[in-house]
Amino acid sequence: MDYQSALASLFLPEGRNDPYPAYDVLRAHAPVFMADGRWWVTSHTVTNQVLRHPAMRILDAADYDRFWPDWRQNRGVASFVLSMLQTNPPDHSRVRRAAAATFTARRVAAMRDVIAALSEELITAMPARTDFIGAFAYPLPISVICALLGVPAADRPWFRQRVADLTVVLEPISTEREMQLADVAGREVEDYFVGLIAERRRAPQEDLTSALVANGDLTAEELLANLILLLIAGFETTTNLLGTGIKMLLDRPEHAARLRADPGLAPAYVEEILRYDSPVQMTSRLAAEPVEFGGVRIAAGESLNMLLGAANRDPARYGDPHRFDPDRENVQPVSFGGGAHYCLGAPLARLEAQVALPMLVTMLPALAQDGPEVRRDRLVLRGYSALPVTIG
Ligand code: HEM
Repeated sequence: MDYQSALASLFLPEGRNDPYPAYDVLRAHAPVFMADGRWWVTSHTVTNQVLRHPAMRILDAADYDRFWPDWRQNRGVASFVLSMLQTNPPDHSRVRRAAAATFTARRVAAMRDVIAALSEELITAMPARTDFIGAFAYPLPISVICALLGVPAADRPWFRQRVADLTVVLEPISTEREMQLADVAGREVEDYFVGLIAERRRAPQEDLTSALVANGDLTAEELLANLILLLIAGFETTTNLLGTGIKMLLDRPEHAARLRADPGLAPAYVEEILRYDSPVQMTSRLAAEPVEFGGVRIAAGESLNMLLGAANRDPARYGDPHRFDPDRENVQPVSFGGGAHYCLGAPLARLEAQVALPMLVTMLPALAQDGPEVRRDRLVLRGYSALPVTIG
């Protein structure tokens, strides 16, 4: 396979199903190369350099104004572009600080018991034959982030399709129909949060929404977009981590048995799952000024796509990278990004998987796959939409 076909394959269902052979071809071609008018980054080292380099910026609202003046009319797009994910300093630093001050390590650590109780409830209620994604991988993270944000339990199922419709805007290519659905979902989710914000302004509670409303450092538009970002970022990715993680354990019964025997290994397992098959496969930056990476000169205004899944399996960083090995030392996957936009929810996502995976293999020792899995046909957000299982 030449590198052009390898790159093209990432935009086709077959290539996306297993992108790793294509990543190998691309990485062997170059750590940084130009194709289709943009730069592609494949190595672990260069990915980390780009994510942390002060000359690199994220595509923000001012950029959108230039090439798509009407972008605000698509509320799915607007909910991301107005959030910290697509904001540069100084606004990014201010908004991120406010969010980090409410989304504290203490608040996250306090969720351990909630995560364990929710996991137990979901496992106990699991029918003999079921879809693992619908029965566990989706409801756990949505319940956890909604509990943090203060979204009532009864409203949680309402979000599933809407958030799936919204996240399509993160893909590099989407159809007109998908963009319309993202707009509708964006409007509905915005309406929901406008209501929640008004309620919490009137009667604050012990939740993150109340804390962010009280913070006062965000404009009304920023408050809305970032609450939506927390909701969305908070479960679609984690659903994929749980789905991918359990499938890896079911495919490797010796590892499931090891984790069952020693739940203390959970952090090492979760890091290796994140490295081996990252729930987020790509992110992008723009060069604000001329810069050099991997011996290549990048001009101001040019954009770079970082293939995070390729970086995570870079043989220069990880020996025998295609082997799943939780005993690796010094695993630092780029699955949560890096630098100023490093995932704010990484400790929460890790905690959920570290609590849930050992509980699943312990409480359901005969858990097994029961029919073909269905992969979500996306390039950026990688995971399963269905994983049939039997609890034995
Ligand atoms: C396995 C689960 C997750 C993965 C793989 C993941 C991945 C990522 C990545 C790669 C970025 C950086 C994007 C970039 O630099 O362009 C990011 C940013 C972010 N994530 Fe996550 N995430 C996960 C879970 C969560 C959770 C649970 C939350 C919150 C509850 C969350 C909230 C955020 C936020 C707010 C940002 C934006 C940070 C900023 O722009 O400063 N994520 N995430």
